[in-house]
Amino acid sequence: MNQAAWERSPLSQKLIVDLAKKGSAGLGEIIYLSETSSTNQRAKELIDEGKTSFAVITDFQNAGKGRLDRIWQAPKESSILISMVEKLNGVSNPGWLNLWAATIVRRVLLENFLFEIKLKWPNDLVVPNGNSFLKFGGILSQIHKDQVIFGIGINYSQDQNELPIVTATSLKLLTVQYRPREEVLADLISTMHLNWQSEAASSEFPTAATVREYQAASHTMAKEVSVSLPNGKVITGIAEGLAANGALLVKTQSGEIHTITAGDVN
Ligand code: BTN
Repeated sequence: MNQAAWERSPLSQKLIVDLAKKGSAGLGEIIYLSETSSTNQRAKELIDEGKTSFAVITDFQNAGKGRLDRIWQAPKESSILISMVEKLNGVSNPGWLNLWAATIVRRVLLENFLFEIKLKWPNDLVVPNGNSFLKFGGILSQIHKDQVIFGIGINYSQDQNELPIVTATSLKLLTVQYRPREEVLADLISTMHLNWQSEAASSEFPTAATVREYQAASHTMAKEVSVSLPNGKVITGIAEGLAANGALLVKTQSGEIHTITAGDVN
């Protein structure tokens, strides 16, 4: 592998805009910031200023956020950090926004890299590791006014000692192929935007094909899981499937089915 290729440098906004052109018709600006608090936070401010349907990209976040109000941090220029903003347009089934985004992001990464990528409910990008997994990316979807912000964080060139926990990994550690960050970002922007336009506009969101794709990619379904709920409770059982709104159905030993809308699966 050409290790030198992974050396860090600032993103080229021009290259991303040029590469994303084929699929970004109708998308407003692609905004690049060398540093920001959090692309999701910046996206909210831009929505408040009147912008619609756009992308915010950065090389560094000083207040990046993960799910369940966690910190999301990465060294400068080491990550793919983007918020895609789309109009909700009364999308049916908003509970599926998270899972939809995870399905599309995984699809883009599979087209760019040759390693097994699974989804840990609801939207962690993981690679199987024995009975467990290593996480290399995640998505924080937030609705703000009449738009949805898909905040995507993918560990790109971190070495092991730069990762926050031992169960984290990065594309550089997982793959033998090198792809410039700009190419991956441009693919993410155009593929998400194109799919959003076709799928969110249809009366069927998500489509049956997306549901099948998510289920097939799942690292959670049919497994024994322990889910830590935001209130501190832990539910242990078998992940039986998904409710229509994307909630996780967990069947405990007593046969009771729990419908979980937020939590951490282990
Ligand atoms: C998670 O797995 O907890 C979700 C992580 C989402 C991180 C991304 S990085 C870009 C965007 N801006 C943020 O502050 N968070 C998301």
